[in-house]
Amino acid sequence: MTSRVIPVEAFVLVVFGATGDLARRKLIPAMFQRDAAGQLPEAADIIGVSRGRLGEEEFTALAKAAVEEHVPEWERPAPLVERFLQRLHYASADATGDEGWRDLAEKLRPYEDRIKVFYLATGPALFGPICERLGRFGLAQGDARVVVEKPVGNDGETARAVNEAIGKVFPEERIYRIDHYLGKETVQNLMALRFANALFEPLWNAAHIDHVQITVAESLGVEGRAGYYDKAGALRDMVQNHMLQLLCLVAMEPPAHLAADAVRDEKLKVLRALKPMQPQNWVRGQYRAGASAGGPVPGYLEELGEKESQTETFVALKVEIENWRWAGAPFYLRTGKRLAERVSEIVIVFKPVPHSVFGEAAGPVSPNRLVIRLQPDEGVKLWLMIKDPGPGGMRLRPVPLDMSFSKAFGVRNPDAYERLVLDVVRGNQTLFMRRDEVEAAWAWIDPVLDAWSQSPEPPKPYTAGTWGPSAAIALIERDGRTWMDGGV
Ligand code: BG6
Repeated sequence: MTSRVIPVEAFVLVVFGATGDLARRKLIPAMFQRDAAGQLPEAADIIGVSRGRLGEEEFTALAKAAVEEHVPEWERPAPLVERFLQRLHYASADATGDEGWRDLAEKLRPYEDRIKVFYLATGPALFGPICERLGRFGLAQGDARVVVEKPVGNDGETARAVNEAIGKVFPEERIYRIDHYLGKETVQNLMALRFANALFEPLWNAAHIDHVQITVAESLGVEGRAGYYDKAGALRDMVQNHMLQLLCLVAMEPPAHLAADAVRDEKLKVLRALKPMQPQNWVRGQYRAGASAGGPVPGYLEELGEKESQTETFVALKVEIENWRWAGAPFYLRTGKRLAERVSEIVIVFKPVPHSVFGEAAGPVSPNRLVIRLQPDEGVKLWLMIKDPGPGGMRLRPVPLDMSFSKAFGVRNPDAYERLVLDVVRGNQTLFMRRDEVEAAWAWIDPVLDAWSQSPEPPKPYTAGTWGPSAAIALIERDGRTWMDGGV
């Protein structure tokens, strides 16, 4: 089965930070995949911009290496790679000075009648200076769009400053704040599941749902990003954006339609209904040396090369939403590096049946669970109780209705960036964060960050390759509940 491919309009994508990690690992491979799928029109070009003075050939070689490294061999036949490379151009410009900008403007002149997308794959400190120059050199006119990566700021105050600087040049309808989790196939499926099926929505509230668990577990450590990570930590890196966005999609009211602002209004209401956090509802941890994927791995401090750091590499939270739909049904969130496996999933745990008609011999009646698996092996599992087959009397057991999307559809799951970059070209902001959403998320996170920065208590240690500190287990078990580890 193949998915339908509708080509987008003619565009030029200008990537700042074109030689950086994000461009090489994600953006260039994503654009190659869309080209290979036939979704890019003839008139679609990519201009890489960086400060280093590469020649056009050097940039093309870098892009070719990026495709070879990040796209499996069977998905990149040589003629398709060659065709893609023809679309690439290069310009050198200084984000904090005026050097190179006139040349860039000149390079963009032939593209006057195309959609212009400026993708800032740089640190947030450069968002303001680049936007200011895009404005001053006349590049932000018409329907030119700007895309910015997370983190948008380091806290509420810096986020406002970054938003202010971008907003001086681009109106909100042309600003695309990426949260790549929103581009994941299963995250979008969450909306399909909730709003294209009559089955779930009547039960989607605290009267029928006991609680929700959201886990984003990574088995890798901080790899080469320790410098950035040590300033961020798991709360800023994962919770403020990805995990709160997942929570919003699970918790929001049905929007009247899928228009960007209708969806974003509903998410904003959830963010504004989050109960302020109390210390008993959070656990922060930091990994020590342990084992992962069968081999020994160093602890966070060793990876960082420092003796001390208060940065958390793990967070578990009990989050309450103060509205009619969710009062009494908490959301438990946890995320961390160097956990037991790489798995991201949302588990909706329904209330138990009010009364069991089965005797003790039938065994316990487990509550139904809906598991929405983001990665790996995207899919949906609905756990039901059934009778154990056979003539041996009535014994019950939980069995999943199990749908793996790759098995069901036999198509490659596109990377989130493939969808998101083309959504920018299409002018669809539904899967991007609006300014007020980002700022509302920070307003809820900021007091936690403040409390942590003032607390003499260090993050709780956990051994790499486990599910985090034991306090995270206690956090949920004191409520008589338990984490559903690894896709159960
Ligand atoms: C990024 C974080 O936003 O998301 C990383 O900065 C994290 O620390 C990554 O590893 C996880 O993304 P994915 O798509 O691999 O789950």
